[in-house]
Formats: sequence, structure tokens, C-alpha cells
Amino acid sequence: PDLEQRVRSIVAEHRGTRGALLPVLHAVKEEFGYVDPAVIPVLATELNLSRADVYGVITFYEDFRQTPPGRTTVRICRAEACQAVGAGTLADRARSRLGVSFGGTTPDGAVTLDQVFCLGNCATGPAVEIDGRLHGRVTPERLDALLAPREA
Ligand code: FES
Repeated sequence: PDLEQRVRSIVAEHRGTRGALLPVLHAVKEEFGYVDPAVIPVLATELNLSRADVYGVITFYEDFRQTPPGRTTVRICRAEACQAVGAGTLADRARSRLGVSFGGTTPDGAVTLDQVFCLGNCATGPAVEIDGRLHGRVTPERLDALLAPREA
């Protein structure tokens, strides 16, 4: 009921906005860290949409994970400028080290791995964001060093 109430008030804040679903989903994600599938019927009713519509939008945008993220979230930039300076190697390293693919969370809930397309740090790539903090020129070794204390 708590979740439902909170979601209703988020919707209320965006009422009157055209195409409110996306801003509402962003606000839900902001608040809970993910979009719990339990909010789908609530949003459908509140915004007068079908459940399928809401579900379709959630699954279309990779941004809206449906499970809680790990304690640490690592986002690796995969856009062009970073790709050109080794983001691919970094991505491979992260996936094999953590044993998850993009969008995945380690079974112990320690780390969620995501990819992102440009972090606005193109001049000093490859760029990685860890819990909202940006790191530039990240080598695989540096990634290891950044991850080690978080994999507990
Ligand atoms: Fe990676 Fe812009 S391309 S930060």
C-alpha cells in the first residue's frame, strides 16, 4: 500500500503534463531505484492507459530496471568516443570480473553493471560512473581497483 500511495502522489505531481508516463516513470525510478512491476496496474489506472501500454514503455527503455539495483551501480560508457579509446575492453573486463552482463546484478547484490551512451566526459574516456561519481581514462586495472572494495 505504501508503494501504491507514493506512486499515486508521484502521478498527481505530473498530472496535466502531456505524455506524463515517461516523467512519472523517471520519478518512480528516482525514488525507488527501479520500477517495480507492481506499479504497472497503478499507473495504468491513474493515467488511463492499458497495462500493456505501461509495460511496453518500461521494457522499451533499458533505463527502467524492474528489479532493485545492487548496492553499487557501475555504468560503463559505450558511445563512440569512449569506444575509440578502449571502452570495449573495459566492458569485457567488467562483465567477466563481475560475472554478469549489462543490466545484471551480482548474485550477492553487491554490484549492478549497466552500459550508458555518453556520460558527457568524451574527452577523457573511457568513462565510467560508479554510484553517480564519474571516472575518466579508466583502464582495466583501474576498474579492478575501483571495483575491489565494493565487491563484498
Ligand atoms: Fe563516453 Fe561521451 S562518449 S563520455
